[in-house]
Parts: sequence; C-alpha cells; structure tokens
Amino acid sequence: MQSISVLKDLAGKKVILRLDLNVPLKNGKITDTTRIDKVLPTIKFLLKQNSKIIILSHVGRPKGKIIKDLSLKPIQEDIEKKLNEKINLIKKNIYEINKDLLDNFSEKILLIENIRFYPEEEKNDTNFAKHLSSLGDIYVNDAFSCSHRAHTSVCEISKFLPSFSGLQLDLEIGALKKITSNIIKPVTCIIGGSKISTKINIIKNLIPKFDNIVIVGAMANNLIEHDGYNIGKSLKEENVNSIVNEILSYSIEKNCRLIFPEDVVVANDLNGHPKIKELNQIKLNEMILDIGPKTVESICNIIDNTNTILWNGPAGYFENPNFANGSTAIAKKIVEKYKEDKIYSVVGGGDTVSLINSLNAVKDFNFVSTAGGAFLEYLEGKELPGISALN
Ligand code: 3PG
Ligand code: MG
Repeated sequence: MQSISVLKDLAGKKVILRLDLNVPLKNGKITDTTRIDKVLPTIKFLLKQNSKIIILSHVGRPKGKIIKDLSLKPIQEDIEKKLNEKINLIKKNIYEINKDLLDNFSEKILLIENIRFYPEEEKNDTNFAKHLSSLGDIYVNDAFSCSHRAHTSVCEISKFLPSFSGLQLDLEIGALKKITSNIIKPVTCIIGGSKISTKINIIKNLIPKFDNIVIVGAMANNLIEHDGYNIGKSLKEENVNSIVNEILSYSIEKNCRLIFPEDVVVANDLNGHPKIKELNQIKLNEMILDIGPKTVESICNIIDNTNTILWNGPAGYFENPNFANGSTAIAKKIVEKYKEDKIYSVVGGGDTVSLINSLNAVKDFNFVSTAGGAFLEYLEGKELPGISALN
C-alpha cells in the first residue's frame, strides 16, 4: 500500500479522492461532523500541492436512485466553511462529465453528488470504474470506514489508476495494526454489546493474541446465566450455548483470561431505581443494566496492568446516568493511564465513541475509530476489499 503522504509533485494533477462523508443527518442538518473533520488534513494536503480534487462519496443508502434528502449539499457547505474554500457540488449525470469539462470549473475542489445514486456503484462495476477513473490522474482512498464494501469507487476504480491511501486511512490502519499485529503486551480487550453472536468472530480472532478479554454489556448476561445464575428479565440472546462453550474452551486452550461481571447493577426497568447485587441475588423481575463496583475494581486492575487496550461496546445502559458508572469508570481509568503515557488505547463502535464524546475524552485516547462495520471486520481478521485493492 502506498501512501499519498510521500507524493510531492501533484501540481495540476486531478486527484480522485474517495471519502466517507456518510455523516448522520437530521432534517437536512449534520448532527455529527467527526467523519468530515478527520479527512480535512488530506484535503488540505492536496490543496497545498495545487492539485485539483475530485471528491467521491456516498451518504445513506439510496440504492441506485436519486433521493433529494440524501444530497451531499449539507456536507459541501460544512467543508466550505471549515476550509474557507469554494466547492462545486456537481449534480450533473456523471456520464456527461469528462476531464475537459472538469477543466472548465475554476474551483479547486469538486464534489460529485452522492455516488450511490448510481446503481453501478454497489456492483463494483468495471465500466463504471473505467468512467470514474477517466476523470482523474490518480486515485486516493481515504475512506477506511467504507473499505469493507466491494463497491466501484472503493475497489474496482483502483485497477485503472495509480492508487494511494489517504492520511486518515493510514492512521486507522496504523492504529489497528498496533492492536492486532505489532502489539505491545500485555494486551486487553474490553468488549460489549447486546449480542454475543455478532462479536463471536472478533473474540475468536483475538483470543490467541490477547492476554485478557473482558466481556461486558448485555452479551455478558449469557455468560452469567451459563454459570448457573438467574438473570431475571435481563436482555439476553437465545440459542448461544454452543457459542459460549466455544469461547470458554478456546480461551483456556490459548491461555487467554476471560473476565465477565462478578457483581451487577439491576433495576426493574430501564428507568428504575438502581440496586447493586451479587450474581446470586438477582430477582425474577429485575434486569442487569450495569456492572457492579467489584467488577469495576477488577477491570481497573486489569487496565492498570495492561500496555495495550482495545475497547468496543459500553459496560451498561449508559444512556441512563444511573447505569453509566461502569462505562465511565473504564473510560476514566484508560484516560488516567494515557495521561501517564502508560497505555496504547484504541476505541471503536458508535456507542462507545458517543460515550467518550459525552465525557469530552476523545483526545485522551490514542485512536478513536469512526468506522463501524469496517473496524469490526478488520478485528475479525477479514480482508477488507478496499484495502486489498490498494495493495
Ligand atoms: C458506514 O457508515 O458504515 C459507511 O459509510 C458504509 O456505509 P454502509 O454501511 O451503508 O455501506
Ligand atoms: Mg455501515
């Protein structure tokens, strides 16, 4: 994989830049601009080199149709403001655009309207790729969070142009390598979420490399129940006994310590009064909504003795402050170690990132990934088509 960062002579070159500007929109307004903010350095880098930037991106899932609400317009406006640079949002049918026409636009940045308005995009279509590539001289993928999709503007296009990774993609891969291949041990993963079946492949992929895997959140309820405790009306996944057995025996085989809650916080419902309970005290009408203080202490101890940490999935129902203690304590402990320069920390997943955002602590982690599916697939050990295409 070659990085754009080493290129020096891009003056006058047309650079096709694939970004993931798929930001959340509400009534035409962007509610979280993180994904935009993270790729500004790449745009600035290309501007500084006097290249002409042709941005390709999608927003939402228009499924090959033009959907007005899924225009890149609000995104265009946000980037214009942040860079103080005029951007031309080109809505013309892409097949009517060619290199000569692009020369007529005076703007340094051109943004092609939502690339998923074309059904060919999601088909990784060779002819579409040829047309897209005919618009530029080089191709840059700075859309790590789309790189698990074998789509034309992520994958096939790179067959037809000299192709490079963008600055944000480099950072993302660098951080993921530090927790998957170039690990400074001991290494711990804290993993949560509601369904153990959606995380089984990650857990299985990490067990041989990791010293500790801490399972929290609703998926820990299956482990607690498996240990013979009554979990009342707690959220749990059905028919996962064999998955649980598999994880337990594999972790023993590979000498990976598997940790799950030893005490919990329960309530009668999501807005109920919080009560700390031992695992053998949970009543039929109660549900587990957070980890208890003993568990918090154990996890903090593990973090204290760890050099690298990966965190995906909160410890409880943190949307209600009564059940946010566990997640907050984990975040604070990691931040404390980060400030002492004693840990390398990577965090990913929408819920975990919004928790860290709400604590204003994004800057106190080594890397916070904005990629959802791509982040998880990478951790599963899967090959990402957009990354393979660059190799
Ligand atoms: C994402 O937000 O996951 C990426 O932008 C990819 O979008 P998709 O999940 O709709 O393919
Ligand atoms: Mg997705």
